[in-house]
Amino acid sequence: MDLYLREINKNDKDEILSMISEINNSTDYEKFEGLSNIKKVDNDNFDDFLIELENNKNMKLYKPHLVDQSTFVLVDNNNHIYGGTNIRHELNDNLLRHGGNIGYLIRPSERGNGYATLMLKLTLEKCKELDIHKVLITCREENIASAKVIESNGGIYESSLYIEEKNATYRRYWINIK
Ligand SMILES: CC(C)(COP(=O)(O)OP(=O)(O)OC[C@H]1O[C@@H](n2cnc3c(N)ncnc32)[C@H](O)[C@@H]1OP(=O)(O)O)[C@@H](O)C(=O)NCCC(=O)NCCS
Repeated sequence: MDLYLREINKNDKDEILSMISEINNSTDYEKFEGLSNIKKVDNDNFDDFLIELENNKNMKLYKPHLVDQSTFVLVDNNNHIYGGTNIRHELNDNLLRHGGNIGYLIRPSERGNGYATLMLKLTLEKCKELDIHKVLITCREENIASAKVIESNGGIYESSLYIEEKNATYRRYWINIK
């Protein structure tokens, strides 16, 4: 089945809520790492979430201390959502330390099937469309799966940095997008 990235729309409510429920029921150490903006979505605020996603594309107008962000979900032709990715269009001091340009998450029931590796590849294509040609991607030192996803997509390891507020060490990788 063909999978592709697209923006979230009003018909995605049930799929997004079921993905959130899976994540909340998972044993992940930081449940929404990579896609933290879906954490607060519930049955009553989905329409507000869609407005927020639209506004986030011009985040700097609304929240000057943050950067513009685009969110996409990985879907099949039946509109089943496998996971999602956030693209930060530029880096601020915080993102430069950890967080980087791209965050991603695959819903627990779909992990281990290569979807994150595919989703990052498709996300890099979106970056190119957005005129972003060099990206920083970071992952926790213990997140072996995420490190493999980055390395499989050409990530060049630069350094590891201990982030006090997270009490975690992050591996930092760069990818040049041709
Ligand atoms: C990290 C995450 C995105 C990986 O998603 P996924 O779809 O399972 O990843 P893939 O199937 O593409 O697997 C990538 C590689 O990791 C390996 N892998 C998958 N799960 C693993 C695990 N639990 N431990 C070790 N390796 C693992 C796979 O075998 C594969 O290795 P390969 O490239 O050598 O074949 C997913 O586990 C997730 O959403 N975690 C929670 C959020 C998160 O950590 N996001 C990343 C923030 S930096």
